[in-house]
Amino acid sequence: MGIGVSGLTPVEQTALLTVYARALDSRWPHPILGDRLADEVVGKINYDFEALGVQTSVVCQAALRAKMLDDRVRAFVKRHPDAVVVDLGAGLDDRMHRIGPPPTVDWYNIDLPGVTALRDNLLPPSPQAQSVSVSLADEHWPDVIPAARPTMLVADGLLAFLTEPVIVALFRRITERFQSGELAFNDYGGIGWISRIAIRLSPQKMFKAVAGEWGYLGFKDAHHPETWNPRLKLVEETSLAHAPEVDLFPGWLRISTRLLGKTKTGARKARILRYAF
Ligand SMILES: C[S@@+](CC[C@H](N)C(=O)[O-])C[C@H]1O[C@@H](n2cnc3c(N)ncnc32)[C@H](O)[C@@H]1O
Repeated sequence: MGIGVSGLTPVEQTALLTVYARALDSRWPHPILGDRLADEVVGKINYDFEALGVQTSVVCQAALRAKMLDDRVRAFVKRHPDAVVVDLGAGLDDRMHRIGPPPTVDWYNIDLPGVTALRDNLLPPSPQAQSVSVSLADEHWPDVIPAARPTMLVADGLLAFLTEPVIVALFRRITERFQSGELAFNDYGGIGWISRIAIRLSPQKMFKAVAGEWGYLGFKDAHHPETWNPRLKLVEETSLAHAPEVDLFPGWLRISTRLLGKTKTGARKARILRYAF
């Protein structure tokens, strides 16, 4: 009998989907991310994960974007061994365990109360990590985090579940609070109406769960967040479709992803964006 999750709100439940996608990837003979701890976490939860109907394309995308964001965080802590890392909407992700930063790095995992309680129950504790139970819509969310050290903020699968005013306030709050650092997140390059209808009509439970919580449809131009906060400067826009790990995708998905990556519109459908401040 695993740990129950019936108390999670619908938006909190989205954390189950992404951890399960990473768990499925870890079971493959040639995983993209290979996060075995994700599978251990899933194994401890009493929930019908199979009923989510998580598709192979979602597994590939969730594993690859986690890996690409890990690489950005790894590079930052290598340059700044005294860094603070802040995982915004951390869910049940064990990014710190995957990266293994030096002990001089402090790590903060922010999420809503139901998820932070669950993650503290499920993930191994570490003296350098702490969970912060707060809504990112609350302007006080960064109050407990040191402000003067180089800060890497990462958001994996979060922004679509916030509203535009909340995202704008969040991005402004980052540079008001932290002296210097980077913000990296995944993005879908603006969700068009065809994708929205397709998501709504999909029979899979996972798409219904996500569509019900969708708060923000995104933007095409990666410079757009600079208009919300001119202190954020775009330093990287990388498409998942151009990553070497696409070679690990199953045949049909590898071909369609590579083809998608050949056009500008297709390439931005799944991308990693990084801003310095
Ligand atoms: C799709 S999950 C991604 C979780 C994790 N980053 C991952 O990759 O597994 C989205 C997460 O955002 C969190 N979230 C949504 N709205 C939030 C808010 N206003 N404040 C803090 N966390 C929020 C949810 O609780 C959930 O854990």
